This record gives sequence, structure tokens and C-alpha cells, in this order.
Amino acid sequence: MRLPPMTPPQKPVERLVIFGATGDLAARMLIPALYFLDADGLLDPGLKVIGSARTVMDRQAWAERVRKSLSGRDEAIDEAVWKRFSARLDYCPADVTRAEGLADLASRLGAASTVYYLALSPNLYGAVCASLDGAGLACLDCRIALEKPIGHDLESSRAINSEVAKAFEERRVFRVDHYLGKETVQNLIALRFANTLFEPLWNNLAIDHVQITVAETEGVGDRWAYYDDYGALRDMVQNHMLQLLCLVAMEPPPDSAADSIRDEKVKVLKSLRPLTRAAAQAMSVRGQYRGGVSGGGAVRSYVEEKGSASRTETFVALRADIDNWRWAGVPFYLRTGKRLPERRTQIAIQFKALPHSIFGASAQEDLIANRLVIDLQPTEDISLLLMNRRPGLDGVRLQALPLSLSLDNGGRRRIAYERLLLDLLADNPALFVRRDEVELAWDWIDGVADAWRDLDIPPKPYAAGSWGPSGAFALLERSGRAWLDE
Ligand code: BG6
Repeated sequence: MRLPPMTPPQKPVERLVIFGATGDLAARMLIPALYFLDADGLLDPGLKVIGSARTVMDRQAWAERVRKSLSGRDEAIDEAVWKRFSARLDYCPADVTRAEGLADLASRLGAASTVYYLALSPNLYGAVCASLDGAGLACLDCRIALEKPIGHDLESSRAINSEVAKAFEERRVFRVDHYLGKETVQNLIALRFANTLFEPLWNNLAIDHVQITVAETEGVGDRWAYYDDYGALRDMVQNHMLQLLCLVAMEPPPDSAADSIRDEKVKVLKSLRPLTRAAAQAMSVRGQYRGGVSGGGAVRSYVEEKGSASRTETFVALRADIDNWRWAGVPFYLRTGKRLPERRTQIAIQFKALPHSIFGASAQEDLIANRLVIDLQPTEDISLLLMNRRPGLDGVRLQALPLSLSLDNGGRRRIAYERLLLDLLADNPALFVRRDEVELAWDWIDGVADAWRDLDIPPKPYAAGSWGPSGAFALLERSGRAWLDE
């Protein structure tokens, strides 16, 4: 017997309100993502996109701004799509910190089903939710999307989440981690759970260690006002990198329902071994870039960009251990930084070396342990490094051959926000982060930050365009391992 659906079908969202509409995130990500969804016929014909910010301007001026942000991209604007898309646009100035400041917006929204997107500083999340509630705008079929970072540590994160919860129950809160919208990240779930091949090997019997690298060539630039308060640990590791770690490490969920996946991620976060003060020196590395050469030109140091001294890290390398049956003894090495030699987001699953080689001494030198490499950026690829016999008659020589499942179909690469906005509008929270995930991640990160503070560990300098301070290499060398680029 088929059970009736748990929730009645919802009516399509009629209004998407972007708070912080004049900001960088809206211009670079949200607006282009919505435009491309519209181009693909994926937006409901009745959806209106209302920009909102303090700046006073009319609908026409907002539409011109939107057009300008689209014309800054490589893809040419399709005039037929633009005509349809621009007809969806509206603008409403608002002071989001006061309920009275939302009166005009409230009258425009009426009883429309609405999604609010907070492309604002997280410090404002609590106040905005209170204002929305006070203005009668936190209605039952409304949802709210929040960008990371939610808080600066566990305590502030809890405070923000509690403020949000007063106006919006958890199932209506969509916490965005844009890495979860990336095609290859979703593919990781398919790779693990749509194949039988990997699961028997996906544990400490076959895997030696895991490396997760998020390397950027860009510096912090004019984002230092935000960044200096956060640093690479809070800006990248707390969210994107721990999410990647969870997807690699989680147990198979019973199904693909949002909470089934999120429950498994939570178990991984609970199993992360806290970084103690005794272990911090050996298990973590902080760095900050000095001047150097990057992208073919001379670049300034972080301190020069900021204009004053700073103890904020622009590079982190860490060893994380997951204390459970599957991963006992398998280190997860995480590394992220600004001004590194190349842009690369990659997860590498390093399998164990052969237990015994039957090949002669010359072939022995060629042996490389199997490795599964998941490239997220700049290319999207999943490749398995396999050993193979070199063709020829000159004795037995081996070579490593990558078996590539290149995901590059030659088409336009979707912006991660396209997937996320579509899911947000469709009320599908699977790729959004639940409150307990955020808070457990902060709990672990706080342990690292506290150890650094208590031991007074300053960031070590590294030249822009290098792979970080030497300690990052030693982190792996101590156990006879090496980063993939070495
Ligand atoms: C953001 C961080 O969340 O992610 C930035 O705040 C970082 O500092 C960015 O540059 C990286 O995202 P992506 O998609 O370019 O890898």
C-alpha cells in the first residue's frame, strides 16, 4: 500500500526577496544564477525577484544595475531571456533592522509565498529575523536563506541561530554553503553510493589517508575588513572544508532525504577528535602570505593590503582524525590558503601501498599506490590512478594511468548557486546545512582556535605564490607522507 505524501504539494514561491541586493554576492552570484535558471526555463512564471537594500532607487535603476552585473560576465546576454527576467525584477528600499523599516515591503508582498535571502553581514541575521517577524513577514509558508559564516565561534553561532529560530522554525531555515551546490560535490555522493565498487574499500583497511586542498591564487584584497576578523580557519575550514570531509567520511544514509544525509554528516562531526593544546603544534599550521609573485605579477603581502600589522592566518593546514570504526588511524589532511601557486580544489583518497610486490627492482621504483582524485576546481574530474604495465619488450616496467571520468561536457559550468537557489525555491533542504551541523563544526573549530590562542601560535610567513609555510610539508612528512603536488 502506498502511503499518502507527508506534506501537501506546495504552491510555487511567488516572491524572492534579496536583502543586501546592492552587495557583491548578489551581483556576482545570486543574480547571474537566477538569470541562468530563467534562461533554462527553470523559474516559475509567477516568480518575482525583489531586491532590497538601504540605497534608495527605483525598479528601473535596480534593473540597470542587474543588467550591468550580467554584462560583466563572459556569457553574452540573451535579449529574449533578459526581457523575461527583467520583468520579474522589483526593488524596495528597506531598513531591515527595524520592523517599521519593512512596512513598504510588507505592503508589496501581501499574502504572497516568499523566500528571503540574507546576503548581508551575519551580525544582522538576528535583527533582520526579528524585524521580519515584527512586520508580520515571517509567515508559515515563508523560508529564509542565510549565508555563512553563521557566527564567529560556537557561542555567537548559537546566539544567531536562536534569534533566527524565534521567527523561523528550523525546517524553514536554509543555511547556504555554496560548496554543496558544486556539481562535483554532489557527484561525490553519487560516486560513493551509486557504485558497489568503492564501499568495501572505503575504510581504514584500504585507505591510507585523505587530502583535501582548497587553494586560491587570489589574495584577500579589499575584503580584509571581514577577513581579518575570521582568517582561513573560520572562513574556509569551519564550513566548506568540513562539509567536504563529512561527505567523504559519512556512513551510507538510508535514503537521500535531507535529514538522512544531514544525520550522517552530524555523526562525522561528533566523531572528530578535538585538537588538544598538546597536539596543536604538531597537527596544525597557520600561515600568512608575504609579498611575492602570483599570477605572473608581483603582489603585496596581506599586511600591506590591510595597511597594519595582523595575526590573522591566510593559510591553514591541519590533520583531522575521525574517531570511529571506519576511519580509526586514517588521517584527513586539510589545507587551504590564499595566494597559493594555483587554484585547485581537490579531494584525494590515497589507498594503501601494495602489501607485497612481485615485480623486480626496476618496476618497484615505478610503483605508486592507487589514488582516487576528485577535482572540483578549476577542472571537474574524478580520476582513479591505477598501475599498468608499460608496453614494450624491455623487461617489466610499470606506469601509473589515471582513469578519468571527466565531467567536463564542454557546456557552460553552472554557478553553484543555481542548484542551491532552485532547491531553495523548491523547498528541498538536502544541500543546506542544519543547525546542529553548523554548531558541531564551530565546536571543533573553537578547539583549534583556542589552542592557537592559548599557545600563542602566530601565523608563519610564506611567500605569495608558494604552497604555504614549511610546517605544512612537515605535517605530512612526519608520517612519511607528502602532499600530492610535492
Ligand atoms: C568563500 C570565502 O566562502 O569561498 C572566500 O569567504 C573564498 O574567502 C570563497 O574565496 C571560495 O569559493 P570558490 O567557490 O571560489 O572556491
